Amino acid sequence: MAKIRIFDTTLRDGEQSPGASLDTLEKLEIARMLAKLRVDVIEAGFPVSSDVQFAAANLIAQEIDGPIIAGLARTVKGDIDACWEAIKVNSRPMIHVFIATSDIHINAKFRRQIGPDFSESLEEARAKVLQTAIEHVQYAKSLCSLVEFSAEDAGRTDLAYLTKVVEGVIEAGADVVNIPDTTGYCLPWEFVKIIAHLKANVRNIDQVIISVHCHDDLGLAVANSLSALNVGARQIECTINGIGERAGNCSLEEVAMALKTRANGFDDLEHNLDTTVIYPLSQLVSNLSGLAVQRNKAIVGKNAFAHEAGIHQHGVIKDRQTYEIMNPEDVGLNPNRIVLGRHSGKHGVRARLEQLGYHLTEDKFIEIFEIFSKIADKKKEVTDEELSAIVGDLFSENKNVYSLDHLQVISGTNIIPAATVRIRYSDQLLVGSAIGDGPVDAACKAISQAIGIDVCLKQYRIDAKAKGTDSVGEVLILVSENGNNFAGRGSSTDIVEASALAFIRAINRMKS
Ligand code: KIV
Ligand code: ZN
Repeated sequence: MAKIRIFDTTLRDGEQSPGASLDTLEKLEIARMLAKLRVDVIEAGFPVSSDVQFAAANLIAQEIDGPIIAGLARTVKGDIDACWEAIKVNSRPMIHVFIATSDIHINAKFRRQIGPDFSESLEEARAKVLQTAIEHVQYAKSLCSLVEFSAEDAGRTDLAYLTKVVEGVIEAGADVVNIPDTTGYCLPWEFVKIIAHLKANVRNIDQVIISVHCHDDLGLAVANSLSALNVGARQIECTINGIGERAGNCSLEEVAMALKTRANGFDDLEHNLDTTVIYPLSQLVSNLSGLAVQRNKAIVGKNAFAHEAGIHQHGVIKDRQTYEIMNPEDVGLNPNRIVLGRHSGKHGVRARLEQLGYHLTEDKFIEIFEIFSKIADKKKEVTDEELSAIVGDLFSENKNVYSLDHLQVISGTNIIPAATVRIRYSDQLLVGSAIGDGPVDAACKAISQAIGIDVCLKQYRIDAKAKGTDSVGEVLILVSENGNNFAGRGSSTDIVEASALAFIRAINRMKS
């Protein structure tokens, strides 16, 4: 049996999704669950890119034991130094160095230009890129015993040149060579040709693990990644829920379940994942990042195992296999789980949270249990999604600079919506009132007035976490200041309160 390595980049490439925002503790919580899922590599961030990225990668490297912990670096010494500083504390660190190799990228980024003309030939520029890649792999290798090299935009790189680059970086000491389809451009048979060509033509290819990293611009990321396994790739880079830049990255859960369900379609390949962690982890990533999972998403969408049509329901009741190719239990969906409600005690709630994969301090658990009890008092059943929303709210590391003390809203038909708020700030109480286009607008304006700021609300999203009009509503708000975005989440059975909580948390992030 050959081993397939799963390299998770939810915390690096995934976090580059427009609208995603994860703070340090949220990243750590996701990393803990990724370790529980038994991924082989966690890419913990791009440490040189900001203090926050550095801190998160460093905390994950300190706290997580088991998977390899990787950090990303350009072929720049300062990047590699910062990456090494962040991850060296881990027992299995890996520096991931990348440079673009396609002519389009070389022309745009590296080729010397004077006026409208290039002053160096493409051949010279390519040679410079190759030399830079070799030197920086050597430098990374002088610091860290595990080094991965990525040829950015390999999918559109001249194959003869890519062959030279791959051979060069292997000679320089790379342990893993990654072939990204950065723009999601390749068709499966084209991508397979690239990997097969490298396997056949790179002299020293057997010294490394061949990795693939596919983006989903044409919806082909999973197809391309899985196809590459048949011609020698042994590592797939992917993200939970397929989150990532633009249309996203290859989705981990789809790869994992394709390998499990269709093991007969792959020759003697095995992976190490505990697939029962998939669903809780998908929920955690969605809750913490604020990126909703589309209903019909394979494996983790709400509809993935639901059978609405009568003919399907009839078939499934008689024999599951008529319309289901996977067991929901295999991805961690447990139809026989304990139902939580007003009679559930601390023990039951704690057990459910643990099943969902949350590691909570006693203080956080007590805080969550209090909110749970208030919600359970109002409704019959608290779903896993509602529970996850409550946890997501309280996970944020910021110090609650401002908190909601009182909110009163008047709205209805043919009246002007108005809100009054009282905000706690250290030992002061700040009061504001405003009218608005609707109750949410009035509440946000009253909060801004109380705090004395003028923020731009860029995005507002509300999601019902259960069926029924008594569902917990989860609100995600994105505010911006000087081009920087700050997200806040709030959950409540009262959606105006949820909106006010989300707005205040976004402001707290802005101020912290
Ligand atoms: O898509 C890409 O090329 C990347 C590299 C940095 C690996 O994310
Ligand atoms: Zn990428």
